[in-house]
Amino acid sequence: MNRATLNQIVDLAASILFLGMLVTAYILWVALPPQTHRLLTLWGVTRHQWGTVHAYLSFAFLAVVALHLALHWKWAVSVVRHRLHRSAASGKDVARSAVAAVFVLGVVFGLFAWAIQSGVQPLPESQLGDVHPSSPQPVKDDSETLGSEVPSPEPTLSFEADILPILSEHCVDCHGPQTARGGFRVDERASWMGSEESTVWITPGDSDASPILAVLTGKRPIARPEVHRLPDRDVQLLRQWIDGGAPGLESLPH
Ligand code: HEC
Repeated sequence: MNRATLNQIVDLAASILFLGMLVTAYILWVALPPQTHRLLTLWGVTRHQWGTVHAYLSFAFLAVVALHLALHWKWAVSVVRHRLHRSAASGKDVARSAVAAVFVLGVVFGLFAWAIQSGVQPLPESQLGDVHPSSPQPVKDDSETLGSEVPSPEPTLSFEADILPILSEHCVDCHGPQTARGGFRVDERASWMGSEESTVWITPGDSDASPILAVLTGKRPIARPEVHRLPDRDVQLLRQWIDGGAPGLESLPH
């Protein structure tokens, strides 16, 4: 294979990988936004799995770009030399610049790694619903919320870990992206919090002022009452989550 063909193949691969990165970024952004990984799949693939695909595409892209650079190494070196007003180099110079390049790259990468390491912070309290295992809040224990003795003060529940599983089991078939009965979607904030055209179903922090609980306990008349009755345990979890400020709800799309 000659050099020109090889270059073409490498560039084509880079373009395809880059396109793949864009497509998966779009999926992660628009189709399966944060918080949806227990609720939605696209072609049977969850948000987390799409994230992994996105990461691998990026690594492959990086590898192909490195290959591209290697194929054009002579050119890159001569441009740099020209910039530095240096003429043809001796072997010693090449070795020295290689060492310098590795050193510079090492320093840049070291700074990058340090910035990342020190940049990771726990989420502020208001968004604690987004994280679970590392949450400093007491994590709920199923057995405790089950029976009559509810621990006090009640721990704040997480939308993702505690509430989404209930909604995806009992609601999403009729109130999700595919079918939204009555225009209500469990994966949209405005459906819960109300908007100009729709009812307020949840008032964060106040389960008594949240009519959704009356729906799910059969106290409020609604179409298909049999599908809107939830087991007591699930109702209790929802109540506890709403009283804890319904964390995670505000980060759902619109
Ligand atoms: C088998 C289908 C089905 C399931 C499952 C289901 N619903 Fe419904 N839901 C309906 C239908 C049908 C309506 C009435 C829609 C209409 O008024 O046109 C409705 C209405 C609603 C409404 C009122 C919407 C409005 O503003 O009028 C809410 C809120 C609601 N459902 C919440 C839930 C929740 C929460 C769950 C899960 C616990 C759930 N539903 C499960 C079919 C379903």
